[in-house]
Amino acid sequence: MSPLPSRQVVLARHIPGLPSPEDFRVEPVDVPDPKEGELRVRTHYVSVDPGTLSRLGGVASYAPPLAPGDVIHSAAVGEVLESRHASFAVGDLVLGAWGWRAHAVVGGRGLRKVEPGPEPLSAELGVLGIPGLTAYFGILELGQPKAGETVLVSSAAGAVGSIAGQLAKRRGARVVGTAGGPAKCRWLVEELGFDVAVDYRAEPDLEAALRRAAPEGYGVFLDNVGGTTLDAALACMAQRGRVVVSGLVADYGVPAKQRAGLKNTPYLITHRLRMEGFVVLDYAERFPQARAELRQWLADGTLRHREHVVEGLDAAPAAFAGLFRGENFGRALVRVLKTPGPPSR
Ligand SMILES: NC(=O)c1ccc[n+]([C@@H]2O[C@H](COP(=O)([O-])OP(=O)(O)OC[C@H]3O[C@@H](n4cnc5c(N)ncnc54)[C@H](OP(=O)(O)O)[C@@H]3O)[C@@H](O)[C@H]2O)c1
Repeated sequence: MSPLPSRQVVLARHIPGLPSPEDFRVEPVDVPDPKEGELRVRTHYVSVDPGTLSRLGGVASYAPPLAPGDVIHSAAVGEVLESRHASFAVGDLVLGAWGWRAHAVVGGRGLRKVEPGPEPLSAELGVLGIPGLTAYFGILELGQPKAGETVLVSSAAGAVGSIAGQLAKRRGARVVGTAGGPAKCRWLVEELGFDVAVDYRAEPDLEAALRRAAPEGYGVFLDNVGGTTLDAALACMAQRGRVVVSGLVADYGVPAKQRAGLKNTPYLITHRLRMEGFVVLDYAERFPQARAELRQWLADGTLRHREHVVEGLDAAPAAFAGLFRGENFGRALVRVLKTPGPPSR
């Protein structure tokens, strides 16, 4: 064994607002031999996550900020090339958080072996990964929709939103989603079974459109967007509605003082609303059971998902910037290895 020439994507400079590809640098790197207790992995896919932006501006969030020169953090799946760890063997498929690297040396901590299954390996980063689990706990644990209630999901054609809406339907709810553009809205209704999709970009008055879609009011709102979407939805909730704050993608690139802010907070009182944010990692102990259920629903065809895959690490920065313009249609991923996976996956 010897150092392996590879490539990685690093932060070129802190990003004060919305990202552009120039904020990143793709650079060569020699990946060292694994030491005792470590493995060397080859990446098949890495994830592209809007929440990462909150770590790229040089400001502390719930995870520490990255510095220029740091490798971009993300979830990743790949195969073990060399192992000096008793629990992993050469050829094992593993999921970890080694970020935007074509190869990496990792320890066993936080690494999970991916058992062969009918789904493609990429699903481990999407419907069976953090986005699917965020939808699962956001809807089923925090939102707890009841049959007959109407559930609103924002960024509904995205990785979290598309699963969240389907899980709410499983609970017997009527489901309304917001998404940008007619193609995404058509997909939500025609393929995922949403009752109504609101194209927020085409609506001059989002609050009025949300009210038209559910005059009865929303029992649950799973919000991925924040900003003016959250404010409009607050005014359209039913009595005792639950607002579950999953993400605030419209606010991520906006300095705090310039954010839209909430004007409809009086509805929290008049409509006895509950509003709660969450970090899905807090449910980590329950991930295996949740993943087993999601896998079962995929297998029986009652849960559908969509991936937006770009090719190669060079494409990752533009894919990341594209998240904030709605360019991804489904879970945004980078395929790092040209022909990923052994035939079993
Ligand atoms: N709480 C947690 O533990 C947790 C875990 C994972 C993810 N999240 C959050 O979940 C949210 C969704 O993540 P994801 O990975 O599923 O991303 P995604 O929804 O697949 O992709 C982002 C989407 O956001 C929409 N968007 C971007 N800018 C917008 C704006 N200004 N206004 C309205 N919509 C906008 C775009 O869709 P359109 O074309 O529809 O505009 C874009 O496709 C993010 O906020 C993320 O941070 C939270």
